[in-house]
Amino acid sequence: MSRRNKLEKFAALLRLPNVYENFSGQEASLSGQKGIQADLKGKWASAHFKNENPLVLELACGRGEYTVGLARMFPDVNFIGVDVKGARIWKGATQAIDEGLDNAAFLRSRIELIDRYFSPGEIDEIWITFPDPFLKKANRRLTAKAYLDAYQRILKPGGLIHLKTDSPMMYSFTLQSVTNHEQAVLLSHTDDLYSRPLYSKELAIQTFYEKKHLAPGDAIRYILFRM
Ligand SMILES: C[S@@+](CC[C@H](N)C(=O)[O-])C[C@H]1O[C@@H](n2cnc3c(N)ncnc32)[C@H](O)[C@@H]1O
Repeated sequence: MSRRNKLEKFAALLRLPNVYENFSGQEASLSGQKGIQADLKGKWASAHFKNENPLVLELACGRGEYTVGLARMFPDVNFIGVDVKGARIWKGATQAIDEGLDNAAFLRSRIELIDRYFSPGEIDEIWITFPDPFLKKANRRLTAKAYLDAYQRILKPGGLIHLKTDSPMMYSFTLQSVTNHEQAVLLSHTDDLYSRPLYSKELAIQTFYEKKHLAPGDAIRYILFRM
């Protein structure tokens, strides 16, 4: 994408009513539409979604295929896609608006700051979709211990975490990280998700990365655990 195209999308992002951001990470507050400060910690349901439905996060959402796809499937659940890349978020956010999906929103920030924006127990479930494997920096992987600790703080007790990845390294790293974490319980895992019938329709949602960057025959790996 050209630099001009990206800048246009950043500007457009600030005009969308379903996007909040804190790009600098300097302060805890979020800005919403037209840069207006939004204090949403502990108040996403009442202040943004205007209902008390469960709240599910998609981390590393990119263009937000899971956020939008799940919002279509489950109108009585609220979904928030989180990614640092504004031009990608713009795609999912405009699609959600075009389809009238009021139960989908987006947060542009770094995932390491996630517990600044959500109160303890505010989140029901987390999806992590094709996170970068950071081959040389294990502590940056989204299932490293510090991240699992942060997820545990914002999840309700027993909250589920789903990981979809094509990376064998990310798969084995996550299995190890979950096994080592004293509060995590491994529920299910497979190194070839599509080799058997899917046990839930959500698993059939395909992300941009999954559709565009996988070579024929690449297996999708999936892990389900709870905190
Ligand atoms: C390989 S892409 C996958 C995007 C999307 N889930 C898909 O499958 O098409 C990984 C995404 O993670 C985001 N990401 C990586 N580390 C992040 C972090 N610490 N905070 C926020 N986003 C992050 C990147 O910006 C990128 O969009």
